[in-house]
Amino acid sequence: MNTTRRTFLKTSTTAVLGFPAILGAQNPNSNLQIVGVGCDGKGFSDLKEVGSHARAKYVGFCDVDSGRFSKIDQMFPGVPHHVDFREMFSKLGAAFDAVVVSTPDHMHAAIAMAAMRMGKHVYCQKPLTHTVWEARQLRLQAAKSKVRTQMGNQIHSASEYRTGVKLLRDGVIGKILAVHSWQRNGGNGYTKLTAPPAPGIAPETLNWDLWLGVAPKREYAPDVYHPFKWRDWQEFGGGTMGDFGCHILDPVFSALGLGSPSSVRAENEGLNEHTWPSAETVHYVFPGTKYTKGPSLHVTWYDGGRLPDAALAQLPAGQELARAGSIFIGEGGVLMQPHVGMPQLFPVEKFSSFQIEKQPAGNHYHAWVDAVLAGTETSDNFDYAGPLTEAVLLGNAATRIPGVTLDWDAAAMRLPGHPEAERLLRRKYREGWEIQPAG
Ligand SMILES: NC(=O)c1ccc[n+]([C@@H]2O[C@H](COP(=O)([O-])OP(=O)(O)OC[C@H]3O[C@@H](n4cnc5c(N)ncnc54)[C@H](O)[C@@H]3O)[C@@H](O)[C@H]2O)c1
Repeated sequence: MNTTRRTFLKTSTTAVLGFPAILGAQNPNSNLQIVGVGCDGKGFSDLKEVGSHARAKYVGFCDVDSGRFSKIDQMFPGVPHHVDFREMFSKLGAAFDAVVVSTPDHMHAAIAMAAMRMGKHVYCQKPLTHTVWEARQLRLQAAKSKVRTQMGNQIHSASEYRTGVKLLRDGVIGKILAVHSWQRNGGNGYTKLTAPPAPGIAPETLNWDLWLGVAPKREYAPDVYHPFKWRDWQEFGGGTMGDFGCHILDPVFSALGLGSPSSVRAENEGLNEHTWPSAETVHYVFPGTKYTKGPSLHVTWYDGGRLPDAALAQLPAGQELARAGSIFIGEGGVLMQPHVGMPQLFPVEKFSSFQIEKQPAGNHYHAWVDAVLAGTETSDNFDYAGPLTEAVLLGNAATRIPGVTLDWDAAAMRLPGHPEAERLLRRKYREGWEIQPAG
């Protein structure tokens, strides 16, 4: 009886939904069998939230630091531990359906690509990858493997962002002439270092070689990489742009239907070959869409204390730009979308009688589990998140060659006339850790 039901589920799921019949085969009670890679920091909250879905069941936790399982073990006791995601994947094989990837950025692509090649569904933290090339490969692989994906910029599903996106799509301020987005935080703000410091002894709990993964060998040093501070280093993170670009530019992409920019140029302070600049401005030009005015749209990013001209926002006297967020300059007014807060419309006199209708929040984590179980799509899948991440990481490539306008041939993944910039679209992988193109 069980076999018959399982066989039926397997064949009917494949036939109707056209994606691998992973659920059902190992999974008679139809729970989604999930593994987590990266179990503390954001990994803890990702696993907590995904695991609060009634049909989510953890079958493996992986962390390169055995000292970082205690919180997740308290919440989900008895789940087997692993230190190397490759061994966990091969050991579990068909006994897992999906993975939550919450490691530092430099490892996202290696883990997500390995999982998708096995036909596993992926929830992966933002930025989706560490390089433009990797973002492209993950998007292509997700389509090829027909798996359900979601990037972990959870504010995408928050009421505040959804409300702003709806107002812009409804044309409340008319077509958009320009966008300015900022995060006051500075790059390289955690270590203030400009070169790797003197080596130190790694904690006994940490497998430093596995933490490095795809990155070239370097000595462990205390309190500058693991945990959290890896963000400052070009080899591992993406500075402020990498940390916040996929959050703050998400409503810009969603509302205006943006895809690939046509050009990018950056200026910065404090650039060196190891860490990200302390402050930067990145100028993007995108092809116009039906939500924008004219053939192109300028989107400008500021961080490290740099800000757009506040006069552009037409704020009332005494009000300042949000700590982080965007201003959308429309034909008929300005929308400020704080990160994270409800959108505001300016000038206030013009919109004083306008009632902003608050949109309901979604559950970003459960939406992914539901999409896997039902064979539906998420709104933040790799088809959407891939190009958003490409644009963010293209900005990071441009910031390493400041002052140069780079035309972006997205289809060919080329920056014509700038081979030095093109090299920054990919990275060198440590021997044995190469990531193969989608296929
Ligand atoms: N969406 C958000 O709001 C948000 C917030 C914070 C961080 N993040 C993202 O989450 C990711 C993790 O950031 P964090 O601040 O939690 O970092 P972190 O360094 O504090 O934690 C990472 C965890 O992953 C483990 N880890 C590292 N490499 C691993 C590997 N190869 N295999 C298994 N485990 C590994 C670490 O031991 C640690 O437990 C990053 O991509 C970051 O951009 C997103």
